[in-house]
Amino acid sequence: MLLLLVLVLCSSLFLIYQILNRQKHLDQNSTANIPPGSRGLPLIGETIQFIRAVNSNKGFYDFVRNRHIRYGNCFKTRIFGETHVFLSSTESAKAILNNESGKFTKKYIKSIGELVGDRSLLCASPHHHKLIRGRLANLFSTSSVSGFIRQFDESIIKTLGEWENEGTVIVLDQALEITFRAMCKMLMSLESEDEVVEMLKEDVASICKAMLAFPIKLPWTRFYKGLKARRRIINTLGKIMSERRCSQTEREDFLQYLLTEDDKACSDGNPSLMTDAEIQDNILTMIIAGQDTTASAITWMVKYLGENQKVLSLLRDEQLQIAEKNLNKSFLSLGDLNEMPYASKVVKESLRMASIVPWLPRSVLQDSEIEGFKIKTGWNIDIDARSIHLDPMIYKDPNKFNPSRFDDEAKPYSFLAFGVGPRTCLGINMARAMMLVFLHRLVTTFKWEVMDSDSSVEKWALFARLKSGCPVYVRRIDG
Ligand code: HEM
Repeated sequence: MLLLLVLVLCSSLFLIYQILNRQKHLDQNSTANIPPGSRGLPLIGETIQFIRAVNSNKGFYDFVRNRHIRYGNCFKTRIFGETHVFLSSTESAKAILNNESGKFTKKYIKSIGELVGDRSLLCASPHHHKLIRGRLANLFSTSSVSGFIRQFDESIIKTLGEWENEGTVIVLDQALEITFRAMCKMLMSLESEDEVVEMLKEDVASICKAMLAFPIKLPWTRFYKGLKARRRIINTLGKIMSERRCSQTEREDFLQYLLTEDDKACSDGNPSLMTDAEIQDNILTMIIAGQDTTASAITWMVKYLGENQKVLSLLRDEQLQIAEKNLNKSFLSLGDLNEMPYASKVVKESLRMASIVPWLPRSVLQDSEIEGFKIKTGWNIDIDARSIHLDPMIYKDPNKFNPSRFDDEAKPYSFLAFGVGPRTCLGINMARAMMLVFLHRLVTTFKWEVMDSDSSVEKWALFARLKSGCPVYVRRIDG
């Protein structure tokens, strides 16, 4: 009897051992070559950790930085119910951003998609994106950039004129104001005196704050408030468009161009080029894409220069020469900006160090293999631009502000501040122009001292924004 019992026990143990061994083997196979990383808790994954980072002064990139340190150049995580794979090598940037295989498409997290609207070129399907991008790209022609430079310069001269009496200014606040005004003027000929501008500014700020929020639509949530702000903006844009259609005055702005092109197509018996809803979503997209990014970049640039006096002195020498040459000219031209080699490197170095858009999101359309790892259809794939920008194997002393590092051409796919490939930033030339014009007027008019060297970033900000706003004490050079 005892022998029988021992036999049953042994065979049961053997069976259990076999089942466990088989399960282990199956598990190993199913996760073979899957990127390392944690998928976190069931359903919510690592969303809480992500939100915790968003809500801290280290900023949401801290979530990625910690995992990059732990797992290396390729890791996976799960946020907002979806799998994300982060990649930080120039080789993967090339393959994914150029997308010659057609296996990837752009995709933003759900909250961003709903806030900018599903007709925005940020969220459009690849085919639709091509059409919209084609229409919008015409708006960014050389002649349009030239006209914009003149307008922007005029506005900067006016703003800096007011700094004289201020003593201490908060650069971020000023830059947000300047870039917002510039976007409103360029897109819809709205002047700062127009009462609608202030309302739009507040609503755009609410949308930006909601971009990384949980997409929960309850009245007290950040996301809900962002959606309400979006609705108000879309209504306002609708009214502006109706007024334009009834008005006899011809304006020279992006909105007028889109409406006129559309009217032309319709009167030739062709279908509408862009529906009103498409125009509205894309005007909103351009305000959001152009204001916060450029203002944040300008702020970081002022901080880096204030903390690197040698660089500032080289830059000032270059810019004073241009100012001397332009004594009889009221405003800068595109030609002047093309003669600013050192300032252009200062802009590039500021963008590299600040990495305003820290990663570039895409979605996987077909199972793929990247860096030896299996990447499944439907996963999100994010090119971690910030890690590439701060990789010591690519940029020597990456935390040193050294514009001269760009004397030599950067390694391909190592400078991703504006992205590369078919989704490259549409406003790249305007953004560079704004930064250069601002630099020229600032360094030829003022000396400044950064009053708070803290590099903490604002909570809930989609783009890396300095929490202090970068207060500076300014003094006229000739004062
Ligand atoms: C320093 C300022 C700026 C930075 C750092 C910046 C950066 C970027 C980045 C990284 C992307 C995404 C690229 C990708 O996913 O591959 C992007 C897209 C875009 N940007 Fe900018 N941007 C800036 C200013 C502007 C301005 C001034 C405008 C226009 C008014 C603008 C309009 C756009 C648009 C429309 C897109 C979407 C392009 C598409 O999906 O086809 N940006 N920008």
